[in-house]
Amino acid sequence: MRRKLLVVVNRAPVTYERDKDGQRGARRGGGGVVTALGGLLAHHDVTWVASAMSDEDRVVASEQNGSFVEETADGAAYRLRLVAHEPAAYDRFYNTLANPTLWFLQHYLWGLGSAPDFGPDLHEAWSSGYVPVNEGLARAALEELEREPGAAVMFHDYHLYLAPGLVREARPDVVTSHFVHIPWPEADYWHALPLELRGAVHEGLLANDVVGFHTERWRRAFLLAAERLLAAQVDHAAGTVEHRGRTTRVVARPISVDAAEFDRLRHDPAVLEREAALVARRPEQLVLRVDRTDPSKNIVRGFHAFGLLLERHPELHGRVGMAALLAPSRQDIAEYADYVAAVETAAREVNERFGRDGWQPVELDLADDFFRSVAGYKQFDVLFVNPVFDGLNLVTKEAFLVNERDGALVLSENAGVHAELGEWALTVNPLDVSGQADALYEALTLEPAERRRRADAIRAHVREHDITAWVDAQLADLDAVRSSS
Ligand code: G6P
Repeated sequence: MRRKLLVVVNRAPVTYERDKDGQRGARRGGGGVVTALGGLLAHHDVTWVASAMSDEDRVVASEQNGSFVEETADGAAYRLRLVAHEPAAYDRFYNTLANPTLWFLQHYLWGLGSAPDFGPDLHEAWSSGYVPVNEGLARAALEELEREPGAAVMFHDYHLYLAPGLVREARPDVVTSHFVHIPWPEADYWHALPLELRGAVHEGLLANDVVGFHTERWRRAFLLAAERLLAAQVDHAAGTVEHRGRTTRVVARPISVDAAEFDRLRHDPAVLEREAALVARRPEQLVLRVDRTDPSKNIVRGFHAFGLLLERHPELHGRVGMAALLAPSRQDIAEYADYVAAVETAAREVNERFGRDGWQPVELDLADDFFRSVAGYKQFDVLFVNPVFDGLNLVTKEAFLVNERDGALVLSENAGVHAELGEWALTVNPLDVSGQADALYEALTLEPAERRRRADAIRAHVREHDITAWVDAQLADLDAVRSSS
């Protein structure tokens, strides 16, 4: 059954740009959330409310009055509402509060002995950045609700912790859910954030009828944090929180990908072209990583581990290579720009130390090119996914859908997807570089039959639990709210 859904996410499914001839084009938005929610657009009547992020997005927003009809690459129609925030407010929101603060906190990226070091800019970024951007998106959502009164509202991710409370205040009758795509840290780590902020984050989420996470681990942490930080009434067995006279159901629903989309993509001419180039220069065995350049992805330690593997196993020299296909991310933020420099240095060090005529151990490819990623997915022998922490990690699910070499998986114990796929992976502690080098070796030397057994199991799991199962679970959660109220 088609539903009316109002999806509110900071990032839109497309970003508008002008090409060199001055023509407007639309590029697929990056990151896991957009990839995963793309599947919703084909099957339901979706209005997507998002922030205008590029200059051309702002132009499009100013040309349109409210939402307008857009189409996905597959021809599915949806409505898009772009909100052009005041640029300085959006800068504070994105470049101070949402990413270097909330994202860092929720991925445990601070060593608290030295970071963070909050000054007045944090408080300003909250009150003159995070608050007004959430207000702008909540206002737009309320306007779109006037057009589609029966729609359920689905908020997504850490950019929008305040918007649900604002929508709830104006429309107590509306059913809302909020899906958090990133980890939920333990209550003590939330104490890194000033009291007012950490309280508002938890309060904001509890304005929803349903709050979703990818795993039991994050869900449990949220329930404990709500209890500890807000003194909310938590029923751990039922997974409900009573707070300020409202009940919120807290669920774990691991997101997935659209298997049909990847079945098509594997034959896409743009993928085939990149795959041919990759095949022409591939080593005997290819270790692959595909990531945004984000410190949470642990790319530098990954290169150190690959270097250690080569140090320990000279017999692999000339035969094994590592391709790191990395999309530059959030480059206006110093921590992210510095991270790219550190990634480049670490890759160069491995190449300088071990490279020899005709063999370069690491290929570092920095570009935002989804087709290139899919080409890599088809060709890997080992997929290396070692994040410090990760809400889920969709790359893992995408990659196994199209891989043609019965590739093995080296997987961090702190990636949400480990709860689903860990039994078929070689599990690593993301801070243990030595352990990662050993796991890479084990993955490269697994018996073919064992590789196939594991890869088959992963493929079967992802196909069985694809994005339609996740969407159905979300909708069932919303229905359960409707039928109980
Ligand atoms: C992660 C987040 C998403 C975000 C994406 C890309 O997947 O969970 O909310 O959209 O990264 O990051 P960006 O800052 O470019 O939107």
